[in-house]
Amino acid sequence: MSYDTLCSMEQIEQDLLNNFRPPAFPGSFFISFEGIEGAGKSTQIIKIKDYLESKNYRVLVLREPGGTPFGEKLRSAILNTKTTLHPVAEAHLFAASRAQLLEEVTLKELSVPNTVVICDRYIDSTMAYQGIARNLGIKTILDMHNCFPLNLVPHLTFYLKISIETSQERQKMRNAPKDYFESQGIEFYRNLVEGYEQAYQLFPKRIKLIDAEKNGDEVYKSVLKELVNLLEN
Ligand code: TYD
Repeated sequence: MSYDTLCSMEQIEQDLLNNFRPPAFPGSFFISFEGIEGAGKSTQIIKIKDYLESKNYRVLVLREPGGTPFGEKLRSAILNTKTTLHPVAEAHLFAASRAQLLEEVTLKELSVPNTVVICDRYIDSTMAYQGIARNLGIKTILDMHNCFPLNLVPHLTFYLKISIETSQERQKMRNAPKDYFESQGIEFYRNLVEGYEQAYQLFPKRIKLIDAEKNGDEVYKSVLKELVNLLEN
């Protein structure tokens, strides 16, 4: 980690970090998945959804940005933009989609006992992508989220960690058209990995680092272990 990065992390006070808490609905859980392109989030989300349903939980899978009619408009505005967005604009658009999703869907669903909401990307994406890769700084992102409902964080976040090389190999194999972020260069990806590392250091209890270089079944085993731990305690 660079000297500048360490200095900027020291400026983030515990009081600020303490303002980020999971929503308190007894018997319900909020979970997110994070990682760079090709980390395998979608595969793991399908597997744990099946597992949770087999244990009689109501399960909802949401994605960010999006998940509400307004959020989906923001999603397409961001990912299909032909002009480069200012990082501040970008960060606020993602936060706007998030606030709307929390208000319209996540909190209402979690208020029903025995529900698990699984979010494909959440605040750690904003820390990594806009905070570090787009250079706004992690503190700027946390300050932006330091109000209800944006200060609500998952009970558990799985950071599926892969190397940049693995990400690129998996993207080549998929051969899908690239969106706004996927067409960025290698330096951008390096910064993303650093951004996730910083998020992990700031929220070590919430974020579980999973080695996603391994095959899908092994990754699932590690994810399940942490998940069962959450559900049983
Ligand atoms: P998506 O196609 O959902 O990506 P993936 O399949 O990799 O999850 O597109 C979402 C893109 O938006 C993705 O490149 C990450 C980026 N993003 C941010 O930059 N900041 C954010 O806060 C969020 C939620 C996503």
